Amino acid sequence: MQHFDYYNPTHICFGENRIKSIEHLVPSNSNVLVLFGGNSAKNTGTLDEVISALSKNKVTLFGGVEANPTYEKMMEAVEIVRENNIDFMIAVGGGSVIDGTKFVSAAALYPNDPWEILTTGGKHIGKTVPFGTVLTLPATGSEMNSGSVITHTAKQSKLSFMHRAVFPQFSILDPTKTYTLPKKQLSNGIADAFVHIMEQYLTHPTNAMVQDRYAESLLLSLIELAPKVLSESNDYQSRANFMWVATQALNGLIGAGVPQDWATHVIGHELTALYDIDHARTLAIVLPALLSVKKHHKQDKLVQYAKRVWNITEGSDDEIAQQAIKQTIKFFHSLDIPTQLSDYQLERKDINTIVNQLEKHGMTSLGEHGDIDLQTSQKILEQAL
Ligand code: NZQ
Ligand code: ZN
Repeated sequence: MQHFDYYNPTHICFGENRIKSIEHLVPSNSNVLVLFGGNSAKNTGTLDEVISALSKNKVTLFGGVEANPTYEKMMEAVEIVRENNIDFMIAVGGGSVIDGTKFVSAAALYPNDPWEILTTGGKHIGKTVPFGTVLTLPATGSEMNSGSVITHTAKQSKLSFMHRAVFPQFSILDPTKTYTLPKKQLSNGIADAFVHIMEQYLTHPTNAMVQDRYAESLLLSLIELAPKVLSESNDYQSRANFMWVATQALNGLIGAGVPQDWATHVIGHELTALYDIDHARTLAIVLPALLSVKKHHKQDKLVQYAKRVWNITEGSDDEIAQQAIKQTIKFFHSLDIPTQLSDYQLERKDINTIVNQLEKHGMTSLGEHGDIDLQTSQKILEQAL
């Protein structure tokens, strides 16, 4: 196992009817900005519940945060925070609203041009505006981590940053809030959480027994839950388990002390920025292709994954690894998620554009060994055609 620091200060309030706890979690004299996305938070009544819980606070609303939040939109919120002396924020929504709020938290008190936060990965963040979240879509883990991904529309750049100062102070996880999610968003959430686990698990063995078995338990839970989540819309237990798996998939625990890959995400972000493909769907295109191209380097872990997660035991190690990749593709298809570039009308000629963007963003040594250079990314994309 590698050395690690593990730090996670986010207070989780889990269960039905927990939104009213906000009254005790937000300082009573604070001046609060509530951020939300399109219409879902209003239509489902969740926004009203949040506003009622803030009866002792001055509240300003900021709606319209897009799926894949943009720098341009979030800078409007930064101005509101600065002009109105906002000292607490609440994000009501999925990963996009939460990520957008993290950016505002850091940017409002940033002394330089806030775009620098994204180009430096958050390295120079200082003071931040504290915030909590009300999660309405299990997927990203953003509710219990310190990462955020923001898109600059004009630059066609989707970049991330991380900093311990942007952990949410609290997150309300009420599984009943997922009942209104369309099937497409549920599938996306399952796929995104699945790939988060794979990015931290499917590298090479380092004798990290707890992290490995925990990651496998999360993968097995997702595989078992997926059909129930997609078919039984008001089943509390399956939604509760799904919500908690998605949070655990990216709250730092399974990634502590192990090598991590993340190349699938980096390549996927270019696909979203260029072609507006949903985040999770980009991952389902890239991951199987990456596993095929890196099969030899990842073979020990692929075999472990095959045996422990998919119960594949017959054949040589190479055949077992191959079958595990096929099973992964089958899993995405069972969620109704396509796995090839051609499913999105992308062709060989588009690969150059994607690789050029990777180069422009400095993404030239990806993966757990830093050996996924531009040529290897090109190979992965060709494999995904
Ligand atoms: O905008 P509204 O009307 O609220 O609708 C949203 C949105 O259109 C809808 N929705 C959310 N909760 C709902 C609901 N509809 C009905 N009922 C509800 N309860 O769902 C749509 C998608 O929401 P979004 O927040 O975009 O989805 P998700 O949670 O998948 O977030 C995706 C973003 O997170 C980033 C992605 O790159 C992407 O930008 N990620 C953030 C990570 C992190 N911070 O750690 C890690 C991830 O790998 C990911 O990159
Ligand atoms: Zn993701």
